[in-house]
Amino acid sequence: ARKVLLDLDTGIDDSMAICEALANPAFDLVGITGVFGNVSVDQGVRNALAVLHLLGRDDVPVWAGARHPLLWDGDGDFLPPRNIMDIHGENGVGNVELPDSPRAAEEKGAVDAIVRLCRECGGDLDIVATGPLTNLALVLERDPGALGLAGSVTVMGGAVATEGNVSPCAEANVFNDPEAASAVLTSGIPVTLVGLDVTMKEVLTREMVDRWREAGPAGETMADIVGFYVDAHNDWLAPTLGGCALHDPLSVAVAADPGLCGYLPSVMKVDLEGELRGRTIGDQSQIRNPDRPVKVALTVDGARFSQQLMADIERVCSE
Ligand code: BDR
Ligand code: CA
Repeated sequence: ARKVLLDLDTGIDDSMAICEALANPAFDLVGITGVFGNVSVDQGVRNALAVLHLLGRDDVPVWAGARHPLLWDGDGDFLPPRNIMDIHGENGVGNVELPDSPRAAEEKGAVDAIVRLCRECGGDLDIVATGPLTNLALVLERDPGALGLAGSVTVMGGAVATEGNVSPCAEANVFNDPEAASAVLTSGIPVTLVGLDVTMKEVLTREMVDRWREAGPAGETMADIVGFYVDAHNDWLAPTLGGCALHDPLSVAVAADPGLCGYLPSVMKVDLEGELRGRTIGDQSQIRNPDRPVKVALTVDGARFSQQLMADIERVCSE
């Protein structure tokens, strides 16, 4: 199996991404780094540790990372706005009282951990980032050669041929730190971008997530957590979708099996100003550049993916 590192702002779909990384036979989960986003960085790290504990995987190390975006004039931590709490719950895991893990995050920080893993594992390491890209941008600053050594970098972020989810053009992970997303997407490092173009093509319904209950206590808990997310979509966020979006678990599945999607190779840029802030768009000035490091996922075999995810979450909850 290949080594995979997840960089998460552990809310509900990030929790599904943890399940998928643990269940996917292509992967051996070597660690999780945390970033602010759906919740504060501390709450996200707590959630990641708790989900690992729920699934009996207290052996997977977790490191805490960025507390706020690169450009930040607040005094403390980035805290999510009200509507994010309505999507992921106040605690990021659907207000389910998930027992805390008996262990804490590792001593060192996320940026150190990512640099070390890139240097130690090189091409054997796949990185999947499903929160704001602040940690990865800080890795590029700390050790500019490290990230490019990884075998692959897959990012959940952006909306290229569809509308955004925080503004008409911006997706949340990019919007929460556009400077960081810009640094990563224009670094020249090959990145697979799994954005809203594909992550809302397939959903899980209430009836589907309730099937996990048969897998025992962990299945009950995952059904409660993801059920909150399904209800948020059905009640107000996206009533016409028919269920919850699958942003983060799809990104993990695509990293394991790139054949799930079809791609547009491109040179991406991120708008940083005004009402377009946070938009991901092809860079017009690079139109004749044959080197197109960003693969934008534009089509997905959604039925294959959702069947796989259903089975994987059921399996990881019954183990
Ligand atoms: C992304 O934003 C976060 O709220 C989700 O966890 C996902 O990573 C979707 O735009
Ligand atoms: Ca996320």
